[in-house]
Amino acid sequence: MFYIVDGASEWIVIAFESLALALVMNRIEARQSSVGDMFILLNLFSLVVSPLQFFINLFDGKRESLLNATRLRRIMELPCETTDGTKTLELSGRGCEVEFKNIVFSHRGAATTTLDGLNLHIRAGTRVGIIGSSGSGKSTLAGLIMGDYKVQSGELLIDGHNITDITRESIHANIARMNQAPHTLTRTVRENIQLGRMEATEQEVIEACRLAKIHDAINDKPHRYDTVMGKDGGPFSGGQCQRLCIARLLLQTNARLVVIDEGTSAIDPRTEAVVLENLKTRFKDKTMIFITHKMSTLRHLDSIVVLAPGGRIMEQGSHDELMAKRGEYYELRCMNEGLEPQPLLEIN
Ligand SMILES: Nc1ncnc2c1ncn2[C@@H]1O[C@H](COP(=O)(O)OP(=O)(O)OP(=O)(O)O)[C@@H](O)[C@H]1O
Ligand SMILES: [Mg+2]
Repeated sequence: MFYIVDGASEWIVIAFESLALALVMNRIEARQSSVGDMFILLNLFSLVVSPLQFFINLFDGKRESLLNATRLRRIMELPCETTDGTKTLELSGRGCEVEFKNIVFSHRGAATTTLDGLNLHIRAGTRVGIIGSSGSGKSTLAGLIMGDYKVQSGELLIDGHNITDITRESIHANIARMNQAPHTLTRTVRENIQLGRMEATEQEVIEACRLAKIHDAINDKPHRYDTVMGKDGGPFSGGQCQRLCIARLLLQTNARLVVIDEGTSAIDPRTEAVVLENLKTRFKDKTMIFITHKMSTLRHLDSIVVLAPGGRIMEQGSHDELMAKRGEYYELRCMNEGLEPQPLLEIN
C-alpha cells in the first residue's frame, strides 16, 4: 500500500492546480470571470497548497519510518545463523591452533570456487603471514575463522574443535580480527576504540593509542578523544584510521588468535615497523595471522604462506627459506624492490 502512495503527493497538487486552472479558463471564455480573477484564484490556491504540502510531507515521513520499522522487524525475526555451536573453546593460556582440512568454499553466486580444497595448519603461538594475488581467498579464509561463512566441505578446526561445535560467543571472545575495510561508527574516537573492549578505562584507551601511534593525531583534533567520527573514518586519514582500528585491536587483550587483514596497508613503513612490534609484544605467545600484500609486514614472521587463486598454497616457509627457494615469494620480493629476479643456478 505504501509503495502505491509513494510520490502521490506531487500528483495530488498538480491535479488540483490543473482542475482549478481549467475551471477559471472556462469561466473566462464564458465571460463570467476576468483574467484578474484568475490571478487572485491562483494566489489563493498557493496559500492553500503550502499547508497541504506540509501535511503530505509529514505523511511521507511517517510512511518512510513505518517502512523501515517493518524491514527492521523482518530482520529481527530472522533465525540466528549459528545456533548449532554448543562447546566452548578450551582456554589454555596460549594461542589457538588453526587447521583447515580440505576446505571447499564458494561465495553465493560466485562463478568459481573460492577455496578449492585448502589444507593449512597454523600452530599455536606462531606468527603466520599470508600473501597472494587479489581474489585468491585471503579475506575469505579470515571470514571462515570468524564464523562469518559456513564451511561447505572439509573441516575447520580451532584448538582441535570443529568450528561448527564452537559457540559464536567463544569465537568472539578468543579471536580478534581487524577487517580489511576498517569500520567506524558515528561516535566519538573514545567510543570507537572502546569497541575493542567496552569496559576499557580512559588510561587503557590512551595506552592502546600510544602503542598504535595514533595518540598525537587524536590530540591534534580540537575535541581530542571526544572528536565525533564519520562512518568513513573521517576526520582521520586512511592510515590514521587503520591505526585507530589497531588501537581497538590492542584492547582485546583476551584474544588468543589475532587476524589482521591488510591492517597496515596505508601506514608508512617507519610507523608500521613500530606498530607491528607493539602488536607482537602485546600478543606475545598468541597466534597471529597477518594477511597482507606488503613485504615489509612479512619479513620477521615464523612462516609465510603464498596463496594462489582458488586458495591453492603455492609455497610455505620462513622468509629465508622462501628467498633461497627462488620461487613466487622471491619474485614478489624482487618486484617490490625493483630488482631483476636471478635464476637459482646463477646465484652463489
Ligand atoms: N561476498 C562475496 N560474494 C561473492 N563473491 C565474493 C564475495 N567476497 C569475495 N568474493 C569473491 O571471492 C574471491 C576471494 O575473495 P577474497 O576477498 O577472499 O580475496 P582476497 O585474497 O582477500 O583479495 P584482496 O587481496 O583483494 O583482498 C574473489 O574472487 C571475490 O570476488
Ligand atoms: Mg582481502
